[in-house]
Amino acid sequence: MLSYKHGFHAGNHADVFKHIVLIYLYNMAKKYHKSISYIDTHSGNGIYKYISRYMDKNKEYKYGIKKIEKYEGNNILILNYLKKLKIITKNNNFYPGSPFIISNLSTNLDKLFFCELHNNEFSSLKKNLNNFTNIKIINTDGFNYLDKVLNNDKSFFILIDPSYEIKDDFEKIYNILDNIESKFLKSKMLIWYPILNYNENDIFIENIRKKGISNLINAELPINSNNDDLGLKGSGLLLVNFNENKILKDLKLLLKDLNVYLKQSDDVYNPKVRYL
Ligand SMILES: C[S@@+](CC[C@H](N)C(=O)[O-])C[C@H]1O[C@@H](n2cnc3c(N)ncnc32)[C@H](O)[C@@H]1O
Repeated sequence: MLSYKHGFHAGNHADVFKHIVLIYLYNMAKKYHKSISYIDTHSGNGIYKYISRYMDKNKEYKYGIKKIEKYEGNNILILNYLKKLKIITKNNNFYPGSPFIISNLSTNLDKLFFCELHNNEFSSLKKNLNNFTNIKIINTDGFNYLDKVLNNDKSFFILIDPSYEIKDDFEKIYNILDNIESKFLKSKMLIWYPILNYNENDIFIENIRKKGISNLINAELPINSNNDDLGLKGSGLLLVNFNENKILKDLKLLLKDLNVYLKQSDDVYNPKVRYL
C-alpha cells in the first residue's frame, strides 16, 4: 500500500509553480475552445486545510503559497493565480488542489474527468466537489484511464501529476511520450515531475530529448542545491502540444520571479525554459 498523501505537501513551491502554469494554460485554451474536455489523472482530494494534521506537519506551504502571497511584482501569471485563489478560497483557510481550481475555472460547457486511485482521497474529492455538475470523479488508475479513453479522434486537456512514489511512474511518463503520435496528437498535456537529484534529473530529461518529440516545452524551477538531504530539490513541467509562441517568453518571465521568491538556497541553479 502506497503512503503518499498530498496534504503533507499542498501549497508548497511545486504546487505553486504547477498551478500557476495550469491556470495560465487552461485560460489560454479557453480562448480557442468553447468547450474543453479535461482529464486530471492524479487528482488528490481537492481541498487542503491549513489547520490539519497533514499541512501542519512540515508546513511546506510556508515556503510556497505563503511566500508568493507576498508577491509585489507585475508578472501577470502570478497576479492572476493569486486573484483566482482569493476568489476560490474566500476565507483563505485552505489551499485548493488542481481539481478544485479547474472546477472553479470551468464553464458548464466543459467536461472534467478526475481520476484518483486511493479510496480515502477519492471519497474526500467527491465530497469536496459535490457542488459541481460538469464533473465525473473516477476511482481508478489515471494511467490506465488515459490508455482506455485516449485516441487521435478526441482532443483533451490533460494534467498528469503522479506522486512518483514508485520509479514506475517515470517509466509511465516515457511510455506516454512514446505514444504521442498514436494517441495524443489532438490533445494537450501538462506533465509535472519532481527533481529529487540533479544528475538523475539530467538523465530523465536527456532520455526525453532523445525521443525527438516536436513541440515539447520544458520548464524547471530548482529550489535547493544538490545536497545530500532527501526530498524535493525543485520541480519541472513538460508541456506537450501547446502551440502559442508567447508561452516560452511568458514562462521565462514567470520563472525569473518565482526563482526570486521561492528559492531556498543561494547556490541553486538558474531556472530553465526551453524546447526539448
Ligand atoms: C501529487 S498528488 C495530486 C495533486 C493534484 N493533482 C493537485 O495538483 O492538487 C497525486 C495523487 O495521485 C494519487 N495516485 C497515486 N497513484 C495513482 C494512480 N496510479 N492513478 C490515480 N491516482 C493516483 C495519490 O493518491 C495522490 O492523491
